[in-house]
Amino acid sequence: MATPKSSNGKSPSNGAGKKPAKSNAAKGLHELFEDQLKDIYWAEKALTKAIPKMIKNATSTELKSAFTDHLDVTEEQVARCEEVFEAIGKKATASKCEAMEGLIKEAEEMMESTEPGSVRDAGLICAAQKVEHYEIATYGTLVAWAKQLGESEAATLLEETLNEEKEADVTLTGIAEAYVNEEAEDTEEEDDENTPTMTKSKKTK
Ligand SMILES: [Fe+2]
Repeated sequence: MATPKSSNGKSPSNGAGKKPAKSNAAKGLHELFEDQLKDIYWAEKALTKAIPKMIKNATSTELKSAFTDHLDVTEEQVARCEEVFEAIGKKATASKCEAMEGLIKEAEEMMESTEPGSVRDAGLICAAQKVEHYEIATYGTLVAWAKQLGESEAATLLEETLNEEKEADVTLTGIAEAYVNEEAEDTEEEDDENTPTMTKSKKTK
């Protein structure tokens, strides 16, 4: 059942089930905006260390070059985050982003759980697109909040990054759909052809 709402859309604040706020909790949208900016700043910096590993593990020349391009873009995005801090008159500070740490860990696990070649490439694209979608969600929100707060310079800078993340996502889909997914599927068939009939049961389980 939906929570009853008052005419201004706010739920009655009886506090039932609500988590108590930490002493440093954001008191308004400005502080919340700053908190999320610190989070994505940490995430971008972490990505500049994670992407080189993805480049090394990719086999497709096109995928390697897409990751290499995005590494350059990510380094620019780190600098752009610093410009956003400057635009809002705050010192650039990174605050650990648990979600990005998890997504990067997942990308590493993806490498360990796939043979190098098109199967690993398909896995790397999957991991990279999860990262992109997280970034798109964060920057999308930050753009909306910057506009709401009248921080037009910050909004313009963040929108630039948002568009770069969307472009990277489209590029990855393009590579996957052009040949990586198909080649990854073919690898399975090649494996089957080389597998003696007696041990083929693995695929038909
Ligand atoms: Fe990024």
